[in-house]
Amino acid sequence: MQIGDLRIQPPILLAPMAGITDHPFRVICRRYGVGVVYTEFVSANGVIREGPKSLDLVHFAPEERPIGIQIFGETAPVIAESAALLAERFQPDIIDLNFGCPVPKVTKKGAGSAMLRDLSLMSEVIKATVAAVPDLPVTVKMRAGWDSTCVIAVEAAAIVQEAGAKALALHPRTTRQGFTGQADWSLIEAVKREVSIPVIGNGDIRSPADAIRMFHETGCDAVMVARGALGQPWIFRQINALLAGQESPPVTLRDIADVCRDHLALIGQDKNERIAVNLSKKHLNWYIKGFPGAVGWRKKFMACESTDQIDQVLSRFTEFASVRQDA
Ligand SMILES: Cc1cc2nc3c(=O)[nH]c(=O)nc-3n(C[C@H](O)[C@H](O)[C@H](O)COP(=O)(O)O)c2cc1C
Repeated sequence: MQIGDLRIQPPILLAPMAGITDHPFRVICRRYGVGVVYTEFVSANGVIREGPKSLDLVHFAPEERPIGIQIFGETAPVIAESAALLAERFQPDIIDLNFGCPVPKVTKKGAGSAMLRDLSLMSEVIKATVAAVPDLPVTVKMRAGWDSTCVIAVEAAAIVQEAGAKALALHPRTTRQGFTGQADWSLIEAVKREVSIPVIGNGDIRSPADAIRMFHETGCDAVMVARGALGQPWIFRQINALLAGQESPPVTLRDIADVCRDHLALIGQDKNERIAVNLSKKHLNWYIKGFPGAVGWRKKFMACESTDQIDQVLSRFTEFASVRQDA
Protein backbone atom coordinates (compact mmCIF):
# COMPACT_ATOMS: atom_id res chain seq x y z
CA MET A 1 0.00 0.00 0.00
CA GLN A 2 1.11 3.52 -0.75
CA ILE A 3 0.15 6.60 1.31
CA GLY A 4 1.25 9.49 -0.88
CA ASP A 5 4.91 8.72 -1.62
CA LEU A 6 5.20 6.52 1.46
CA ARG A 7 5.27 2.78 0.86
CA ILE A 8 3.57 0.83 3.64
CA GLN A 9 4.75 -2.73 4.08
CA PRO A 10 3.18 -4.75 5.59
CA PRO A 11 -0.31 -3.20 5.26
CA ILE A 12 -0.98 -3.51 8.97
CA LEU A 13 -1.30 -0.47 11.21
CA LEU A 14 -1.36 0.12 14.95
CA ALA A 15 -4.35 2.37 15.69
CA PRO A 16 -3.96 5.47 17.83
CA MET A 17 -5.05 4.89 21.43
CA ALA A 18 -4.99 7.67 24.03
CA GLY A 19 -3.01 6.66 27.10
CA ILE A 20 -1.67 3.54 25.35
CA THR A 21 0.13 4.11 22.05
CA ASP A 22 3.04 5.96 23.62
CA HIS A 23 6.70 5.62 22.64
CA PRO A 24 7.34 2.33 24.54
CA PHE A 25 4.25 0.54 23.21
CA ARG A 26 4.86 1.72 19.66
CA VAL A 27 8.45 0.44 19.78
CA ILE A 28 7.21 -2.95 21.00
CA CYS A 29 4.64 -3.15 18.18
CA ARG A 30 7.26 -2.21 15.59
CA ARG A 31 9.46 -5.03 16.86
CA TYR A 32 6.58 -7.40 16.19
CA GLY A 33 6.31 -6.23 12.61
CA VAL A 34 3.52 -3.65 12.43
CA GLY A 35 3.75 -1.54 9.25
CA VAL A 36 2.83 1.90 10.62
CA VAL A 37 2.26 3.31 14.10
CA TYR A 38 0.38 6.41 15.23
CA THR A 39 0.73 8.60 18.25
CA GLU A 40 -2.35 9.01 20.37
CA PHE A 41 -4.38 12.07 19.42
CA VAL A 42 -2.94 15.42 20.39
CA SER A 43 -4.86 18.66 20.82
CA ALA A 44 -4.25 21.21 18.05
CA ASN A 45 -4.79 23.99 20.61
CA GLY A 46 -2.24 22.40 22.96
CA VAL A 47 0.27 22.12 20.13
CA ILE A 48 0.05 25.72 18.97
CA ARG A 49 0.38 26.89 22.60
CA GLU A 50 3.46 24.62 22.63
CA GLY A 51 2.16 23.02 25.81
CA PRO A 52 4.81 20.62 27.11
CA LYS A 53 2.20 17.88 27.76
CA SER A 54 0.95 18.02 24.18
CA LEU A 55 4.42 18.04 22.68
CA ASP A 56 5.55 15.23 24.97
CA LEU A 57 2.76 13.01 23.58
CA VAL A 58 4.27 13.06 20.12
CA HIS A 59 7.97 12.50 20.72
CA PHE A 60 9.18 9.40 18.91
CA ALA A 61 12.36 7.52 18.02
CA PRO A 62 13.71 6.78 14.52
CA GLU A 63 13.04 3.03 14.97
CA GLU A 64 9.28 3.77 15.13
CA ARG A 65 9.10 5.05 11.55
CA PRO A 66 6.90 5.20 9.59
CA ILE A 67 4.84 7.08 12.15
CA GLY A 68 1.78 9.31 11.94
CA ILE A 69 0.97 12.07 14.42
CA GLN A 70 -2.76 12.35 15.00
CA ILE A 71 -4.36 15.74 15.68
CA PHE A 72 -7.81 16.71 16.91
CA GLY A 73 -9.24 20.20 17.00
CA GLU A 74 -12.18 22.41 16.23
CA THR A 75 -11.19 24.89 13.55
CA ALA A 76 -9.32 24.67 10.26
CA PRO A 77 -6.77 27.45 10.95
CA VAL A 78 -5.74 26.03 14.36
CA ILE A 79 -5.53 22.43 13.12
CA ALA A 80 -3.53 23.51 10.05
CA GLU A 81 -1.16 25.63 12.16
CA SER A 82 -0.60 22.76 14.58
CA ALA A 83 0.12 20.39 11.68
CA ALA A 84 2.74 22.78 10.29
CA LEU A 85 4.38 23.12 13.71
CA LEU A 86 4.44 19.34 14.25
CA ALA A 87 5.78 18.71 10.76
CA GLU A 88 8.58 21.19 11.23
CA ARG A 89 9.56 20.17 14.74
CA PHE A 90 9.13 16.37 14.63
CA GLN A 91 9.15 15.45 10.92
CA PRO A 92 6.66 12.60 11.18
CA ASP A 93 5.85 10.54 8.08
CA ILE A 94 2.10 11.22 8.19
CA ILE A 95 -0.26 13.81 9.69
CA ASP A 96 -3.55 12.15 10.63
CA LEU A 97 -6.80 13.98 11.41
CA ASN A 98 -9.10 12.60 14.09
CA PHE A 99 -12.77 12.63 13.06
CA GLY A 100 -13.63 9.66 15.23
CA CYS A 101 -13.29 10.46 18.92
CA PRO A 102 -16.72 10.01 20.57
CA VAL A 103 -15.75 11.39 24.01
CA PRO A 104 -18.16 14.22 25.00
CA LYS A 105 -15.32 16.41 26.32
CA VAL A 106 -13.97 16.46 22.75
CA THR A 107 -17.20 16.39 20.70
CA LYS A 108 -19.02 19.10 22.64
CA LYS A 109 -16.47 21.59 21.32
CA GLY A 110 -17.00 20.36 17.76
CA ALA A 111 -13.85 18.23 17.51
CA GLY A 112 -13.35 14.48 16.91
CA SER A 113 -16.42 12.73 15.56
CA ALA A 114 -18.53 15.91 15.91
CA MET A 115 -16.95 16.90 12.56
CA LEU A 116 -19.07 14.15 10.98
CA ARG A 117 -22.07 16.46 11.54
CA ASP A 118 -20.51 19.25 9.50
CA LEU A 119 -18.95 17.82 6.38
CA SER A 120 -18.17 21.23 4.88
CA LEU A 121 -16.11 22.10 7.98
CA MET A 122 -14.46 18.68 7.73
CA SER A 123 -13.53 19.41 4.13
CA GLU A 124 -12.17 22.84 5.09
CA VAL A 125 -10.03 21.29 7.85
CA ILE A 126 -8.54 18.71 5.47
CA LYS A 127 -7.83 21.27 2.74
CA ALA A 128 -6.19 23.69 5.17
CA THR A 129 -4.03 20.92 6.66
CA VAL A 130 -2.98 19.59 3.26
CA ALA A 131 -1.92 23.12 2.29
CA ALA A 132 -0.07 23.60 5.59
CA VAL A 133 2.11 20.47 5.21
CA PRO A 134 2.84 20.22 1.48
CA ASP A 135 5.63 17.68 1.98
CA LEU A 136 3.63 15.21 4.10
CA PRO A 137 0.65 12.99 3.36
CA VAL A 138 -2.45 13.91 5.36
CA THR A 139 -4.73 11.01 6.32
CA VAL A 140 -8.10 10.81 8.05
CA LYS A 141 -9.45 8.43 10.66
CA MET A 142 -13.20 8.56 11.18
CA ARG A 143 -16.28 6.81 12.45
CA ALA A 144 -19.31 5.88 10.33
CA GLY A 145 -21.45 8.81 11.43
CA TRP A 146 -23.01 10.45 14.45
CA ASP A 147 -25.86 8.01 15.11
CA SER A 148 -27.89 5.36 13.31
CA THR A 149 -29.97 8.03 11.55
CA CYS A 150 -26.84 9.69 10.21
CA VAL A 151 -24.45 7.08 8.82
CA ILE A 152 -22.47 9.17 6.33
CA ALA A 153 -19.29 7.12 5.86
CA VAL A 154 -19.60 6.82 2.08
CA GLU A 155 -20.55 10.45 1.51
CA ALA A 156 -17.81 11.62 3.89
CA ALA A 157 -15.23 9.37 2.21
CA ALA A 158 -15.79 11.09 -1.13
CA ILE A 159 -15.33 14.47 0.56
CA VAL A 160 -12.18 13.27 2.35
CA GLN A 161 -10.68 12.19 -0.97
CA GLU A 162 -11.73 15.34 -2.81
CA ALA A 163 -10.20 17.52 -0.07
CA GLY A 164 -6.80 15.91 -0.64
CA ALA A 165 -6.37 13.26 2.06
CA LYS A 166 -4.05 10.45 0.95
CA ALA A 167 -5.75 7.60 2.88
CA LEU A 168 -8.82 7.01 5.00
CA ALA A 169 -9.15 4.76 8.05
CA LEU A 170 -12.71 3.83 8.95
CA HIS A 171 -13.93 2.52 12.31
CA PRO A 172 -17.48 1.67 11.24
CA ARG A 173 -19.36 2.41 14.43
CA THR A 174 -21.31 5.60 15.08
CA THR A 175 -20.41 8.09 17.79
CA ARG A 176 -23.51 7.10 19.76
CA GLN A 177 -22.44 3.45 19.67
CA GLY A 178 -19.19 4.18 21.46
CA PHE A 179 -17.64 0.72 21.63
CA THR A 180 -20.92 -1.22 21.87
CA GLY A 181 -22.35 -3.52 19.22
CA GLN A 182 -20.28 -4.64 16.30
CA ALA A 183 -18.26 -2.69 13.78
CA ASP A 184 -20.21 -2.80 10.50
CA TRP A 185 -17.55 -3.99 8.07
CA SER A 186 -19.95 -3.69 5.12
CA LEU A 187 -19.38 0.07 5.37
CA ILE A 188 -15.64 -0.45 4.85
CA GLU A 189 -16.47 -2.33 1.67
CA ALA A 190 -18.89 0.43 0.56
CA VAL A 191 -16.26 3.11 1.18
CA LYS A 192 -13.64 1.09 -0.69
CA ARG A 193 -15.95 1.00 -3.72
CA GLU A 194 -16.49 4.77 -3.49
CA VAL A 195 -12.92 6.11 -3.38
CA SER A 196 -9.58 5.43 -5.03
CA ILE A 197 -7.36 6.49 -2.10
CA PRO A 198 -6.29 3.59 0.16
CA VAL A 199 -8.94 2.50 2.64
CA ILE A 200 -7.78 1.19 6.00
CA GLY A 201 -10.26 -1.05 7.79
CA ASN A 202 -10.54 -0.86 11.57
CA GLY A 203 -12.80 -2.35 14.22
CA ASP A 204 -13.04 -5.64 16.06
CA ILE A 205 -9.86 -7.33 14.82
CA ARG A 206 -9.10 -9.45 17.88
CA SER A 207 -7.21 -12.31 16.23
CA PRO A 208 -4.99 -12.79 13.17
CA ALA A 209 -7.85 -14.65 11.48
CA ASP A 210 -10.11 -11.58 11.94
CA ALA A 211 -7.59 -9.48 10.03
CA ILE A 212 -7.53 -11.87 7.09
CA ARG A 213 -11.34 -11.99 7.14
CA MET A 214 -11.50 -8.19 7.03
CA PHE A 215 -9.22 -8.12 3.95
CA HIS A 216 -11.42 -10.72 2.23
CA GLU A 217 -14.82 -9.33 3.20
CA THR A 218 -14.14 -5.65 2.56
CA GLY A 219 -11.36 -5.46 -0.04
CA CYS A 220 -9.62 -2.90 2.21
CA ASP A 221 -6.04 -1.94 1.40
CA ALA A 222 -4.78 -2.31 4.96
CA VAL A 223 -6.02 -3.26 8.39
CA MET A 224 -5.64 -1.28 11.62
CA VAL A 225 -5.64 -2.91 15.05
CA ALA A 226 -6.29 -1.19 18.39
CA ARG A 227 -7.57 -3.27 21.33
CA GLY A 228 -6.47 -6.51 19.70
CA ALA A 229 -2.84 -5.51 20.28
CA LEU A 230 -3.20 -5.01 24.03
CA GLY A 231 -1.26 -7.73 25.82
CA GLN A 232 -0.58 -9.45 22.51
CA PRO A 233 1.60 -7.29 20.26
CA TRP A 234 2.63 -10.52 18.47
CA ILE A 235 -0.74 -10.25 16.71
CA PHE A 236 1.16 -8.24 14.07
CA ARG A 237 3.72 -11.02 13.53
CA GLN A 238 0.86 -13.52 13.36
CA ILE A 239 -1.10 -11.47 10.78
CA ASN A 240 2.09 -11.14 8.72
CA ALA A 241 2.58 -14.91 8.83
CA LEU A 242 -1.00 -15.58 7.73
CA LEU A 243 -0.69 -13.04 4.89
CA ALA A 244 2.42 -14.92 3.72
CA GLY A 245 0.51 -18.21 3.88
CA GLN A 246 2.55 -19.44 6.85
CA GLU A 247 1.60 -20.67 10.28
CA SER A 248 2.76 -18.54 13.16
CA PRO A 249 4.57 -20.30 16.02
CA PRO A 250 2.52 -20.47 19.23
CA VAL A 251 3.17 -17.85 21.90
CA THR A 252 5.00 -19.30 24.89
CA LEU A 253 5.22 -18.21 28.51
CA ARG A 254 8.80 -17.21 27.82
CA ASP A 255 7.59 -14.92 25.00
CA ILE A 256 5.28 -13.27 27.54
CA ALA A 257 8.12 -12.86 30.06
CA ASP A 258 10.39 -11.44 27.32
CA VAL A 259 7.89 -8.87 26.09
CA CYS A 260 7.14 -7.77 29.67
CA ARG A 261 10.86 -7.28 30.31
CA ASP A 262 11.40 -5.31 27.08
CA HIS A 263 8.26 -3.21 27.44
CA LEU A 264 8.92 -2.36 31.10
CA ALA A 265 12.53 -1.41 30.30
CA LEU A 266 11.28 1.01 27.63
CA ILE A 267 8.72 2.45 30.05
CA GLY A 268 11.46 2.91 32.67
CA GLN A 269 13.59 4.90 30.21
CA ASP A 270 10.67 7.08 29.10
CA LYS A 271 8.61 7.89 32.24
CA ASN A 272 9.09 9.03 35.80
CA GLU A 273 8.76 6.46 38.62
CA ARG A 274 5.11 7.15 39.48
CA ILE A 275 3.90 6.97 35.89
CA ALA A 276 6.16 3.98 35.17
CA VAL A 277 4.61 1.96 38.03
CA ASN A 278 1.02 2.69 36.94
CA LEU A 279 1.66 2.20 33.25
CA SER A 280 3.64 -1.02 33.79
CA LYS A 281 0.79 -2.45 35.86
CA LYS A 282 -1.73 -1.46 33.18
CA HIS A 283 0.18 -3.43 30.54
CA LEU A 284 1.01 -6.33 32.90
CA ASN A 285 -2.72 -6.75 33.46
CA TRP A 286 -3.07 -7.35 29.73
CA TYR A 287 0.04 -9.51 29.31
CA ILE A 288 -0.39 -11.82 32.29
CA LYS A 289 -3.47 -13.75 31.32
CA GLY A 290 -4.68 -16.87 29.57
CA PHE A 291 -2.42 -19.47 31.25
CA PRO A 292 -2.68 -21.54 34.44
CA GLY A 293 -1.53 -19.43 37.40
CA ALA A 294 -2.06 -16.09 35.62
CA VAL A 295 -4.43 -14.76 38.30
CA GLY A 296 -1.87 -15.33 41.06
CA TRP A 297 0.93 -13.65 39.09
CA ARG A 298 -1.30 -10.69 38.25
CA LYS A 299 -2.07 -10.23 41.95
CA LYS A 300 1.67 -10.22 42.74
CA PHE A 301 2.33 -7.58 40.09
CA MET A 302 -0.64 -5.45 41.14
CA ALA A 303 0.60 -5.39 44.76
CA CYS A 304 3.90 -3.76 43.71
CA GLU A 305 4.52 -0.17 44.70
CA SER A 306 7.75 0.57 42.85
CA THR A 307 9.50 -0.37 39.62
CA ASP A 308 12.10 -2.24 41.71
CA GLN A 309 9.38 -4.45 43.18
CA ILE A 310 7.89 -5.03 39.72
CA ASP A 311 11.35 -6.04 38.44
CA GLN A 312 11.71 -8.55 41.30
CA VAL A 313 8.34 -10.17 40.56
CA LEU A 314 9.21 -10.18 36.86
CA SER A 315 12.48 -12.05 37.57
CA ARG A 316 10.51 -14.70 39.47
CA PHE A 317 7.95 -14.86 36.67
CA THR A 318 10.74 -15.28 34.08
CA GLU A 319 12.16 -18.21 36.10
CA PHE A 320 8.67 -19.75 36.33
CA ALA A 321 8.24 -19.30 32.56
CA SER A 322 11.59 -21.00 31.84
CA VAL A 323 10.85 -23.95 34.14
CA ARG A 324 7.37 -24.41 32.69
CA GLN A 325 8.75 -24.16 29.17
CA ASP A 326 11.41 -26.78 29.77
CA ALA A 327 9.06 -29.12 31.63
C1 LIG B 1 -8.29 3.30 25.11
C2 LIG B 1 -8.57 3.76 23.70
C3 LIG B 1 -8.07 4.98 23.27
C4 LIG B 1 -8.33 5.40 21.97
N1 LIG B 1 -7.78 6.58 21.54
C5 LIG B 1 -7.92 6.96 20.24
C6 LIG B 1 -7.24 8.10 19.72
O1 LIG B 1 -6.49 8.81 20.41
N2 LIG B 1 -7.47 8.41 18.41
C7 LIG B 1 -8.28 7.65 17.59
O2 LIG B 1 -8.43 7.96 16.41
N3 LIG B 1 -8.91 6.57 18.06
C8 LIG B 1 -8.72 6.19 19.34
N4 LIG B 1 -9.31 5.05 19.78
C9 LIG B 1 -10.10 4.20 18.84
C10 LIG B 1 -9.21 3.15 18.18
O3 LIG B 1 -8.17 3.72 17.44
C11 LIG B 1 -10.03 2.23 17.28
O4 LIG B 1 -10.63 2.99 16.26
C12 LIG B 1 -11.14 1.48 18.03
O5 LIG B 1 -10.67 0.99 19.27
C13 LIG B 1 -11.68 0.32 17.19
O6 LIG B 1 -10.64 -0.59 16.88
P1 LIG B 1 -10.43 -1.99 17.68
O7 LIG B 1 -11.72 -2.74 17.58
O8 LIG B 1 -9.28 -2.64 16.95
O9 LIG B 1 -10.14 -1.65 19.10
C14 LIG B 1 -9.09 4.60 21.09
C15 LIG B 1 -9.58 3.38 21.53
C16 LIG B 1 -9.33 2.93 22.82
C17 LIG B 1 -9.85 1.59 23.26
